Amino acid sequence: MKYQLHPAYPHLQPLIDHIDDYFQNATQILHAERNEIRSVRFNDQDYVIKSFKIPHIVNRFAYRYLRSSKAERSYQYSLKLGEETCPEPVAYIERFQSVGLSRSYFISRHFHYDFTIRPLLDDDAFEGRTEILQKFAEFTYGLHQRGILHRDYSPGNILIKKCVDNYQFNIIDVNRMQFKRLNLRDRLTNFARLMVDDTTMKVMLDRYAQIIDKPQDEILAKAIGYRDQFADRRQLKNKLRGRG
Ligand SMILES: Nc1ncnc2c1ncn2[C@@H]1O[C@H](COP(=O)(O)OP(=O)(O)OP(=O)(O)O)[C@@H](O)[C@H]1O
Ligand SMILES: [Mg+2]
Repeated sequence: MKYQLHPAYPHLQPLIDHIDDYFQNATQILHAERNEIRSVRFNDQDYVIKSFKIPHIVNRFAYRYLRSSKAERSYQYSLKLGEETCPEPVAYIERFQSVGLSRSYFISRHFHYDFTIRPLLDDDAFEGRTEILQKFAEFTYGLHQRGILHRDYSPGNILIKKCVDNYQFNIIDVNRMQFKRLNLRDRLTNFARLMVDDTTMKVMLDRYAQIIDKPQDEILAKAIGYRDQFADRRQLKNKLRGRG
């Protein structure tokens, strides 16, 4: 077993030592698809455990010997992102079997959000929609200025908490990140995975254009172009996989 426990959480050592049991016995299941996400309470604090799907044979080997596992990357990248941007990372744990990585976990603080951005994108009548979309554009700009590119910036990975008179955004699922100086294409392509209609794009991109002081129609047209390219590629991919 290989693991790292954040120095601020030494009292969570038992959770690390018996992670399989804690995960199995957790009753709050937040998400159960490819990966499984459960929440556990420990000393009056809620923690989220993400259990990654066991990779296929080639990657089991690669994740052991050639590159960091998704669990480790989630942990390291969350540290890099820092508080206020993502749920605080607590630990990652990797277990091995003869050929390589088997089960792996990423533990973070449970962020008690009110909604992901998905219902808001899907519903034109969502309360405060325009304001939240504009604030989201500002949040995204903030990431971009810090040289952060979330490579899976999709609706389920953007959590929103309503505060007194503001909204707090947190990103999750952060194992595919790039840290670099971003050009305009990187920035605008980042909105593609949200897969939203032109009207919704306009609300976000107009605000983004305003902040970077560029013509709104030009920025919107480019962003829509990148979204369409992404949608075409995805459609082609699904077709090739026999899904479309
Ligand atoms: N730290 C957290 N605090 C609160 N909720 C969380 C946290 N981490 C994950 N979740 C919940 O679990 C959901 C899925 O998490 P995540 O995006 O990390 O999994 P995923 O890799 O997308 O899973 P899959 O690939 O199976 O779709 C989120 O949309 C959110 O509801
Ligand atoms: Mg996700």
